[in-house]
Amino acid sequence: MTATETNPTFPHGFLWGVATAAYQIEGAVDEGGRGRSIWDEYCERPGVIVGGETGVVAIDHYHRYREDVGLMRDLGVDAYRLSVSWSRVQPTGRGPVNEEGLDFYDRLVDELVAAGIDPAVTLFHWDLPVELQEAGGWLNRETSYRLAEYADIVGRRLGDRVRMWMPLNEPVVHTLYGHALGVHAPGQELGFGALQAAHHQLLGHGLSVQALRAAGCGNLGIASNHAPVHAASDSEADVAAAEIYDHIVNWTFADPVLRGSYPAEELAAALQGPVAEDLKVISQPLDWFGINYYEPTLIAAPTSDEGSSGVLEVDLPPGMPFQPVALEGYERTDFGWPIVPAGLREILGIFADRFGDALPPIYITESGASFHDDDPDENGRVDDRRRIDYHREHLHAVRAAIEDGVDVRGYFAWSIFDNFEWAAGYKERFGLVHIDYETLARTPKDSYFWYRDLIAGHASVS
Ligand code: FCB
Repeated sequence: MTATETNPTFPHGFLWGVATAAYQIEGAVDEGGRGRSIWDEYCERPGVIVGGETGVVAIDHYHRYREDVGLMRDLGVDAYRLSVSWSRVQPTGRGPVNEEGLDFYDRLVDELVAAGIDPAVTLFHWDLPVELQEAGGWLNRETSYRLAEYADIVGRRLGDRVRMWMPLNEPVVHTLYGHALGVHAPGQELGFGALQAAHHQLLGHGLSVQALRAAGCGNLGIASNHAPVHAASDSEADVAAAEIYDHIVNWTFADPVLRGSYPAEELAAALQGPVAEDLKVISQPLDWFGINYYEPTLIAAPTSDEGSSGVLEVDLPPGMPFQPVALEGYERTDFGWPIVPAGLREILGIFADRFGDALPPIYITESGASFHDDDPDENGRVDDRRRIDYHREHLHAVRAAIEDGVDVRGYFAWSIFDNFEWAAGYKERFGLVHIDYETLARTPKDSYFWYRDLIAGHASVS
């Protein structure tokens, strides 16, 4: 790592980063020989995205990447977490490489390296090529092997300059939102049937780790979403419901990778395929484990069979054995998510306790907040002090976890730019840099300057 001299109140070499994902920023969906992904298709369905918005233009990063890397350079970050669009590199998800697509990432990576920024690459941030979806998507075991083939292609081309690799982003969200509830692409409503898609993503992760290592790439991990789950009361029913939920959203995804097992026998038994063999592939050693953290969850036993939650952005189907309930007593982002920095310290402690010596160093691969910031004022200023508070408090929690003894090596703010927030469209703004969606002008917000000062050691999180 080429970490700069970092803030003295964090360990030497602590990695300061920012993160994005391809479909959320690139635009240019019909350019450079790119094939279509499930997000292109999903956005065309009426009524599924707030305001009917799409990533067709997004923030036009595909054309403006030089300006964007310049903003990162001036921010002083050590690393930039980007995702590669699979359908730019392999338009149908298999077979021949689209050189023009791979060239784009080659130029982007060169630009980053020239700016002194380490590229950290996610291979699959939810944008499966449509041909693979038509062949069954993540319900088809073959897709795991296709991910590894694509990992090999990208690894061989970029591996000499990419400093961190993660085959997957948040398989839990892709499984639950995309396959169980149908509120993200590919829009399937399979309920518990979605767990097969989880298993195949995890298998794809393991196969891709093997492929990347074979291609000479190092420093491999995963970006996985985790947060504490609490029971709404001490009642046996609530505690049991919270435990089931915790198993599903946390340990179904972390245990296979870090322990080589699923958290419950019934779960492994319900999956198709040579699960025991697959778990060996899934659990090979990683160099680090990435946690994306946003908010903890409070869970009660279901009160009726009618479904719904009112807490997740979506209603749960009937018959689920748990019921998310509102976490009271916290300020919320404008997206409605409770702001609970202590939950970040807590989940880090839970990981350290659960996995002990099997836990590699941790990076916070995402954390951030959507506030509906005002447009820049007449002096070009965006006063987003609530976002500064969010990051300061979450970094404070990271430091506390480090003091607790958890080996956390870095933090990637989600996101450097306002961008296409999936089903929520452009209304939700997570960026340190404001985007004017009419002109596509980029304007650094106060949080950008605060983060710059923090990285340079001129601001603190205390
Ligand atoms: C995460 C996603 C990321 C972004 C943030 C707000 O779940 O990985 O793409 O949408 O949430």
